[in-house]
Amino acid sequence: MTVEFTLNGAETRVSVPSDTLFVDVLRSEFGLSGARPGCMRGQCGNCAVLFEGELTRTCLLPMFRVDGCEIVTIEGFVKSKEFTDIEYGFERAGMDPCRFCIASKILVAHSLLLTELEPSDLEIERATSGVWCRCTSYSSFVEGIRFAARARKRRYNERSF
Ligand code: FES
Ligand code: FES
Repeated sequence: MTVEFTLNGAETRVSVPSDTLFVDVLRSEFGLSGARPGCMRGQCGNCAVLFEGELTRTCLLPMFRVDGCEIVTIEGFVKSKEFTDIEYGFERAGMDPCRFCIASKILVAHSLLLTELEPSDLEIERATSGVWCRCTSYSSFVEGIRFAARARKRRYNERSF
């Protein structure tokens, strides 16, 4: 099957069996390794991308569902202004990750802030519960999201003047 879609802002196409998983195609056809295969069961969050603007796990995403859609991977997201908020927040919180799951953490934080600029503890807990991380403290992740939220609000406020 030939699948056409927008990948990090560029129109693209690829011919693969329709049930090929998107996480595999990203790596093998496009050399994008930020979405990592982990559990391959939709649980660890390491394979996440923004699919039509929503956080989505690519280990459960067959290529036929990608046709005609817009995808942003971590490689594309780091070029956006939204990334600077998250980067600032995580640095400010002193997060010092091994980087195995950092793409997932960044996209989780961004997705949460898209819907809520002042997330409650419960909303943060819900959003972050799908990230399996072995080496950064949960509290610094939460703190990082809070700093990122403040940075994003500041940027939005400056933009409105
Ligand atoms: S590899 Fe996709 S959620 Fe774990
Ligand atoms: S930062 Fe190392 S596993 Fe999450």
